[in-house]
Amino acid sequence: MSVEKTLSIIKPDAVRKNVVGQILSKFEANGLKVAAMKMKRLSKAEAEGFYAEHKERGFFGDLVQFMISGPVVVLVLAGQDAILKNRALMGATDPKKAEPGTIRADFAESIDENAVHGSDSATSAAREIAFFFDAAEIVN
Ligand code: CMP
Repeated sequence: MSVEKTLSIIKPDAVRKNVVGQILSKFEANGLKVAAMKMKRLSKAEAEGFYAEHKERGFFGDLVQFMISGPVVVLVLAGQDAILKNRALMGATDPKKAEPGTIRADFAESIDENAVHGSDSATSAAREIAFFFDAAEIVN
């Protein structure tokens, strides 16, 4: 067990559904603290840069278009085993395969519009946090 930080994005579909607060509550109720947070519209270049590891995948263009289709909330979550805990709370990438009670089971419609993103490893978390936040913006 170690205290970690991870990056979460509440995606445009969840912002449109007005469930930002419900998603934040789930993090907080499960021991994750918001250490930094901002709402923003991603530029195309930001979305492409953030998801650069997927640029050869067939879904890349649709993913970028979706991520710039409306505002997102980007946040740093901190807590014991935050990376794995956040992944467990999110549920499977495809909401049809997500466990009941997970964020994607409750709020997402499809693999393309799946409500949240979460870092999948310590290496990704470090890169993704630095992608959106300066050290001075992370307070917890
Ligand atoms: P996310 O965790 O944000 O990382 C990349 C995103 O690509 C993923 O969530 C999905 O929303 C989207 N995506 C679309 N199709 C696929 C697929 N076949 N496999 C993985 N991710 C996909």
